[in-house]
Amino acid sequence: MDSLIYKSIEKETPNSKLTVEGQIPEWLSGDLIRNGPAKFEVGDYKLNHWFDGYSMIHKFSIQDGKVYYKSKFLQSNDYIKSTSANYIKNRSWGTVADPCASIFNKFFSAFTKPEASNASVSILKNGNRIAAVSDFSSMVEFDINTLETKGDVKFSDQFGNDYMFSAAHSCYDPDTKEIFNCLGKPGPKGNFSFVKISESTFERKPFGSLSAPKHTYFHSYALTKNYFIFIEQPLELNIWQLMFSRFLNRPYEACLHWKPENGTKFHLVNRLNGEVKTFKSTPFFFFHTVNAFEEANEVIIDLCLYNDPSVIKDLYLDKLKQNGLKKESMSLLYRAKINLEIGTVDLIQLSDIPLDLPSFNMTRACKSYNYVYGLGLKETEDIEVNNQLVKIDVRSEDIKVWYHKGMYPSEPLFVGTPGSASEDDGIILSVVLDIQKQSSFLLLLNASDFTEIARAYAPVHLPIGLHGMFYQNKHTSKF
Ligand SMILES: [Fe+2]
Repeated sequence: MDSLIYKSIEKETPNSKLTVEGQIPEWLSGDLIRNGPAKFEVGDYKLNHWFDGYSMIHKFSIQDGKVYYKSKFLQSNDYIKSTSANYIKNRSWGTVADPCASIFNKFFSAFTKPEASNASVSILKNGNRIAAVSDFSSMVEFDINTLETKGDVKFSDQFGNDYMFSAAHSCYDPDTKEIFNCLGKPGPKGNFSFVKISESTFERKPFGSLSAPKHTYFHSYALTKNYFIFIEQPLELNIWQLMFSRFLNRPYEACLHWKPENGTKFHLVNRLNGEVKTFKSTPFFFFHTVNAFEEANEVIIDLCLYNDPSVIKDLYLDKLKQNGLKKESMSLLYRAKINLEIGTVDLIQLSDIPLDLPSFNMTRACKSYNYVYGLGLKETEDIEVNNQLVKIDVRSEDIKVWYHKGMYPSEPLFVGTPGSASEDDGIILSVVLDIQKQSSFLLLLNASDFTEIARAYAPVHLPIGLHGMFYQNKHTSKF
C-alpha cells in the first residue's frame, strides 16, 4: 500500500516556480487555493481519522503560462496548542483529546469548551478576506497572498461564536451574489438558523429557522432561485456524548448515530420570507450536493448519495491503509425530484460510476445544466482511495474518465473559457499525487473531451486534500 497518500508533509514550501509540461492557455490567470489535512501526528501521538489531519493551505498561482506553488500550515489555535505541547489537545472526528490524561483530569476537562476546529476542510472568500472553514462554525482567516494565518474570525453579529456548527460548504447564487449557510446549536433538540453571509465581511444575517427533534450532521446544502434547501439526514448527534466526549473517550464520529427509520427530510426554506416546507424521502447519507433548480412544479436536487454513513468509519487511517476504499463504499450521483404539488420525493440514480467531491460550471448554479465533474474510483488490485476524475452528462449519461495507474487526483474544479458559448468549454484543474515520482502536480484537462492540456509538478508530495477554489483575475498576487 502506498503510504505516501497519507504521509504528513514536514515542511512548508516557499514560493516556487514549477516546470510546466504542455501549454497553459493564455487566458487562464488566477490562484487555485486548496485546503486539506496534511499532518497526521503530534509528537508521539497519531491522529486516527483522515479528517483529523492538521490543515495546510496550498496555493497554485497561474499567470502568463507560468505556475507557482507555495504552502503554509494553518496556524489555528488547535494546531498551535497541540504542536507546541506535542500532544493532542482537541477532540476530532476519530481522535480523542488528551489521549493519555487520567480519568480524573478527563472528567474535569470535560467541562471546558473544546478549542476551535483546525478548519481543514474548505475555504470561504468574502471580498478581500479569506478563511479556512470546516463543519464547525469557527473560521480561521489567512492572508490570500502570503498564506500567513491572521487568526479566528471574531463575529459581531447576533450569533457571535456561540453556534457550534455550520457547513463547510456555503451555497452561492452568482446572479444575486448571495451566500447562504446554516448555523446549528445542538441541545436536547436541534436548533438551526438559516443565514445569509455578507459578501464583504463574514457577518451572518438570519432569514429563517428550524427546530428539529435532534441535531443532525450537515456538510452542504442545495439552492434554487426560490429555496435554500436544508437536507436533514438521519445521522443524529448525541449531545451528551459530545459534551462528555473526553471523559467517555469518544471522538466526534462516535457521537453520531444512524437512525434510518426517520428517513431523510428536505426542508425547503423560502429565500425571501424564511417559510419552511418539508418533504420526506427514504433514508440516505450524503456529504455533497451538486446543483439544484426548479422546473415546472418540481424542485430538482443532484447530490452524491450513500446508502448509509459507513464511509465515515471507512476513512479511519488504519482501515484505509489496510483495505483502501471499495467501490461499494463510494457515493453515486442521484437526482432528488420533489413534487411540490403532491409532496413526493423520487430518488433517481443518474449513473452507476462512483462519484463524490463534485463540481460544475458555476454559471449554471440554480439552473438546468448538463455536466457534473467529480472524483471517482476505479477498482484495481492496488486501489487505495479515489483514483480517477469523472465527467457525467446528466442528460445523456455519457461518461468521460481520466485515469492513470498510480495517480491520485483531487477534487476537480471547472474554470470556464472567457466568452464561452457551451457549458463545458473550459479547463478542469486538479492536484494529482504521482506515487512513482513521489510528488504532486497541478493537472489541466480540457473540460470538454477530458484530454490533458498541461501539468506542473510541485517540489513535494501533497497528501490528498479536500476542497479548494480558483480565483480568476480578482487580485494581484505578491510573491
Ligand atoms: Fe466537502
